[in-house]
Amino acid sequence: MTEQDLSARRALVTGGASGIGLACAREFASRGAHVIIADLNADAAEDAATAVGGESWAVDLSDTAALDDLHLDIDILVNNAGIQRVAPLPEFDPEAFRLILRLMLESPFLLIRAALPGMYERGWGRVINISSAHGLRASVFKSAYVAAKHGLEGLSKVTALEGAPHGVTSNCINPAYVRTPLVEKQIADQAKVHGIPESEVVEKIMLTESAVKRLVEADEVASLAGWLVSDKAGMVTGASYTIDGGWTAR
Ligand SMILES: NC(=O)c1ccc[n+]([C@@H]2O[C@H](COP(=O)([O-])OP(=O)(O)OC[C@H]3O[C@@H](n4cnc5c(N)ncnc54)[C@H](O)[C@@H]3O)[C@@H](O)[C@H]2O)c1
Repeated sequence: MTEQDLSARRALVTGGASGIGLACAREFASRGAHVIIADLNADAAEDAATAVGGESWAVDLSDTAALDDLHLDIDILVNNAGIQRVAPLPEFDPEAFRLILRLMLESPFLLIRAALPGMYERGWGRVINISSAHGLRASVFKSAYVAAKHGLEGLSKVTALEGAPHGVTSNCINPAYVRTPLVEKQIADQAKVHGIPESEVVEKIMLTESAVKRLVEADEVASLAGWLVSDKAGMVTGASYTIDGGWTAR
């Protein structure tokens, strides 16, 4: 087995049917891993699983009570499933806030909790938490998302400390705006709200903080995830790696 080879590994990617999750699934599968695509969208999860020669798990990860007794036999866990809601604090729907915390903080905790015993038994594991520039910085109107991502940063660090004696690493990846279906749709919405052409949204709305004036590509995020799961990254843990074109350098 070379250091890049993942043929003995089982990887679970949440939200793996689209965007960043799908790119991570492709990266791991191309190196021989057996990939499990966990996603709310059953049809898309099935298509993605077929494309990467893996299996699908149709699941609503915001239904966290159903995850309390879960046991996962995996070597690699990517906590990636996520959504966005944008509203000023006085108008932020409490149910939307709770939904985001359940999906993007509670469910990563429950999946890590379910995966660690097997990883500890085998003496090897990789947890990757897809955080965000918003895990390190705040923006107006994104209270739930920023709170969930900041919480995920703390969860990842505790996982790193507890996992270290067992060969398990845990890290966050912190992208700026990534070209995914979610963001493509936001471009149209932002154009409407701001009354500007779609062609100007990326530069005028999304890239104001980034020194490199382009969107991140999903496969750029996946390439970092691919390195983090390699044996060469065994000393890298409790870290948060930005892919943000310089946003957080400010
Ligand atoms: N796109 C960006 O600009 C960007 C930037 C930084 C961080 N991120 C983070 O990356 C992650 C993936 O984002 P993306 O842009 O690839 O999004 P995406 O919308 O392309 O994919 C998200 C996937 O999560 C799934 N999902 C949603 N709710 C779910 C639920 N309740 N249970 C199970 N699966 C569910 C969706 O069906 C979808 O397949 C998110 O955590 C997001 O916060 C995205």
